[in-house]
Amino acid sequence: MIHDVLDRWTAESARELYGVDQWGAGLFQISTDGDLLVSPDPGRANDTINLKRLVDEISAEGTSTPILFRFSDVIRSRIEQLNKHFDRAIREAEYKGIYRGVYPIKVNQHSQVVQDVIDYGEPFCFGLEAGTKAELILAVALTRDPDALLICNGYKDAVYVDLALYAQKMGLNVHFVVEMPSEMRLILERAARMNIEPRLGFRAKLSSRGAGRWDSSTGDRSKFGLGTSELIAMFDQLKAEGKHGCLRMLHYHLGSQISDIRRIRVAVVEAACIYSGLVREGAPMGILNVGGGFAVDYDGSQSNSEGSCNYGGSEYAADIVEGIITVLDSEEIPHPTIVSESGRAITAHHAALVINVLDTKRLESRDLPADLPEDAPETLHSMTEVYRTVNSRNVQESFHDAVYYRDDIRNQFVHGDLTLRQRALGENLFWHTIRKIQSVLTQCDHVPDELQKLDATLSDHYFCNFSTFQSLPDTWALGQVFPVMPIHRLNSEPTRPGVLADITCDSDGKLDKFPSLHDVKRYLMLHELDEEDYYLAVFLVGAYQETLGDMHNLLGDVNIVQVRIDESGAPAITRRVKGDTVSELLAYNEYDTSEMLARLEDATARASSSGKLNVDESQDCINAFRAGLDGYTYFEK
Ligand SMILES: Cc1ncc(COP(=O)(O)O)c(C=O)c1O
Repeated sequence: MIHDVLDRWTAESARELYGVDQWGAGLFQISTDGDLLVSPDPGRANDTINLKRLVDEISAEGTSTPILFRFSDVIRSRIEQLNKHFDRAIREAEYKGIYRGVYPIKVNQHSQVVQDVIDYGEPFCFGLEAGTKAELILAVALTRDPDALLICNGYKDAVYVDLALYAQKMGLNVHFVVEMPSEMRLILERAARMNIEPRLGFRAKLSSRGAGRWDSSTGDRSKFGLGTSELIAMFDQLKAEGKHGCLRMLHYHLGSQISDIRRIRVAVVEAACIYSGLVREGAPMGILNVGGGFAVDYDGSQSNSEGSCNYGGSEYAADIVEGIITVLDSEEIPHPTIVSESGRAITAHHAALVINVLDTKRLESRDLPADLPEDAPETLHSMTEVYRTVNSRNVQESFHDAVYYRDDIRNQFVHGDLTLRQRALGENLFWHTIRKIQSVLTQCDHVPDELQKLDATLSDHYFCNFSTFQSLPDTWALGQVFPVMPIHRLNSEPTRPGVLADITCDSDGKLDKFPSLHDVKRYLMLHELDEEDYYLAVFLVGAYQETLGDMHNLLGDVNIVQVRIDESGAPAITRRVKGDTVSELLAYNEYDTSEMLARLEDATARASSSGKLNVDESQDCINAFRAGLDGYTYFEK
């Protein structure tokens, strides 16, 4: 850890501890006075947002944590970077085609995000990808640039197809992704009625698999796409109807979060071969759509592990461009427009969830008595002996003995051979022994496997105001790690190892895996609570998390604050969206809150008339119920 010349903890030490440079993509810094800064433009270091100060200001105005912050400038910066990478790769390889980005709405369909993508994407003719009817409706309504692509993916009924075709008639750059004969039939029939030629793209099922969590998005048994024999059969069908001129695009999607660049390279070469095959069959083509998959380095390890990636934007773009050139130049086939559908890489960095710590809990650490009571049973004496004799030579054996005696104590207790007080003393002794073992381990060269998780077991619980299921569903569903750190006090050394527990009544509602360069860490170093509020932020949560979140325990959407840096370089709040109220969540679950209130009023009236509540108490009860209904679903101060 970097300390200053006097070996003191500095903001630099915090930067290293939390791996900010590794996962932050240059977007986050720490001020010398220990606050976390968001710098949306890596090139403009002075344009920063002090997150803690912002939280203080917003809280003073009545918006409480948990708050999801959206940094619009980060979306701008990510779109600019992606386009720059492709432009450079195209220039350097003397590629004759162009690049066009498309944003898949499903990655984060919140209006502020989609609007930011459209606004900041305009100079780059950035388009949208819709995967459902609802997303298509949104895309048609919001698209302004007639040249920006509108890629129509997913299952398509007649209403979907008609809307897309009308959009094409009105001048939008609509392309259908087709992956089943039945949908091709439907599109051709509806288009014939409207007297237009649809622009079609085949979704290929590549044999090169993605690798990683979503690798089943392609490969022979994938649920998506057309194998080569289906693809040729469908092309023959088009040709037989004289409609092969409609085939303009080849599309594939390897899966999200492709962590290994080699997979991307291998896949694009295979796709380029299929593209060239279709051109030689007589299709006009023109677009090679490489789908999504450009990964985010959540753990900062720059490796091909699931939460990371072993490449950056410039290598990603260069490999795609070069892969296509290699195949098509040898066949003398014109270079197509390259389309990518990056969602995660554009939106993940723009959002951070700020949560407040409500309380902490440490493992039992009551002082041990100088001597055991006279009536202490033999097991307690044995446990005391283990505690007394732990050293670096017997550390593993001591651990086994401690666990053995702890279990023995519990057994004796349930058989009525130990009193509650004796069991409590035994458990206290056990935890003291484990702590001693842990401290001895810090001096050992080798830590046996079974003892490696002891530090996590001994860490404190930091109870935090959020719901894993609502705000970070992938941590629960997929074991995904997100970077987490305090947003202030970073110039003082955090001394407590902690795991984060949310406010749901679910033992899965916790964060106990944190990014680390070499492995996942089972705890996070945190500060002791003082009289001030203590805030942490979970970063890189802008992709997929909000839309997949659910209302477990009736905890709803969190407050959202959208921030932009204004012309003077200062942060300006451009939008606030209030989180769900309790009554909104109840109504969503089909409760009639007026009826509930009426019932409570009846009940309080009855309680009043029978003397269980006086008039004031009865009114207070109704007021508390009303305040609860109108309030935030999270803990309020
Ligand atoms: C067809 C398609 N395109 C693009 C994406 C976005 O992928 P990513 O977020 O990895 O860029 C997805 C998501 O899995 C997808 O299914």
